Amino acid sequence: MASSTGVTATSHRFDALTAAHMRAGGSWKWSTPGSWRRGEREGLIGAFVAEMDYPVADVVADAVRTSADGSRFGYLPDDWVADMAAATSAFWGERLGWAPDPARVRPVPDVLTAFTATVRHFTRPGSAIVLPTPAYMPFLTVPAMLGREMVQVPMARDGARFVLDLDAIGRAFADGAGLLVLTNPHNPTGRVFDVDELAAVTEVVECHGGRVFSDEIHAPLTFDAHRHRPYAATSEAAAGHTVTATSASKAWNTPGLKCGQVILSNDADAAHWEATGYLAEHGTATPGVLATTAAYRDARGWLDDVLAYLDGNRALLASADLPGLEVTVPEGTYLAWLDGRGLGAGLGLDEPPSAFFTREAGVVMTDGAACGEAGRGGMRLNLAMSRPVLTEALDRVRTALS
Ligand SMILES: Cc1ncc(COP(=O)(O)O)c(C=O)c1O
Repeated sequence: MASSTGVTATSHRFDALTAAHMRAGGSWKWSTPGSWRRGEREGLIGAFVAEMDYPVADVVADAVRTSADGSRFGYLPDDWVADMAAATSAFWGERLGWAPDPARVRPVPDVLTAFTATVRHFTRPGSAIVLPTPAYMPFLTVPAMLGREMVQVPMARDGARFVLDLDAIGRAFADGAGLLVLTNPHNPTGRVFDVDELAAVTEVVECHGGRVFSDEIHAPLTFDAHRHRPYAATSEAAAGHTVTATSASKAWNTPGLKCGQVILSNDADAAHWEATGYLAEHGTATPGVLATTAAYRDARGWLDDVLAYLDGNRALLASADLPGLEVTVPEGTYLAWLDGRGLGAGLGLDEPPSAFFTREAGVVMTDGAACGEAGRGGMRLNLAMSRPVLTEALDRVRTALS
């Protein structure tokens, strides 16, 4: 199938996933737009929340089925936690170059729970949280729910690349902040920070005695030469001030199974987690743990297939003709950042570009303003659709622009 963008799609089983199929399947991504525009749901393409449209790996589905068949819905046995931790460590070792001690890989239901526990138990009471923006949306709002101030630090640009503004991060620490939220690979800009950038972060954090919450939920999802480097593995200093959180839920598309991992990287933090982590661990779902073990251990081929397919979608986006939109093709994640600030004058927009494209193109993206002030005028586009659906989404956006 040749698209108007000139990219020829290869035939793949995901190509058969139509919008109608996705709407019938039931998901937030494809149902919530309907509640926003009652009665017009049929025409909308859900491209906002970070879920993939692809069916999960057979071994992951089997793990859930086996859980049901065996009534494995009780509290989490230590053995299954140990299996999951070993599978996580082995996957990280092979794919990311760091195999954390499985005894220091702990279960949590999700990364946000890990974040909440880190703020509560690993930072100075009352200290502010530093957040590079644009950022994953809940990081903007959850700190206030925990009674913490959040300091937005807009990311800088190095040419087309988003980069961390280390001077501003340093100033926030100097003003009393206690924790930096480092999301890598970065949502929503798609950056995969390189070792030099990570070393520079360590220098700033150490200089101020700060801590890092390293959100590595998108770690397996990188492209081209961009390789994810676990932050805590970059130096002893980084290991000493970091709580890492991850999950199989992005790369294997299982966020509803409620299983993530906290990785502790020094003795003091491991002991402190043992003393304080119970409540955070408690919500982890038993079938989710079993499915996560299966994903990390036995679904690497599925992941590689998805990565190759997503890479084709990246190429489609890169070649799309979207005049007036500045497109950032992600180095990692399946989320692309579209800067629509240049559109205002041309289209006479007095609304966020995301609202314009929902109305005029029926493509529902995340409004950049939800990612912080620095995101205003931008949009986050989820590329994890079938290629024909993405082709249609991009065609519709182009038509709306013209
Ligand atoms: C960077 C990032 N962190 C955290 C989350 C949320 O993860 P969880 O569902 O495990 O809380 C997401 C979800 O999209 C994300 O993209």
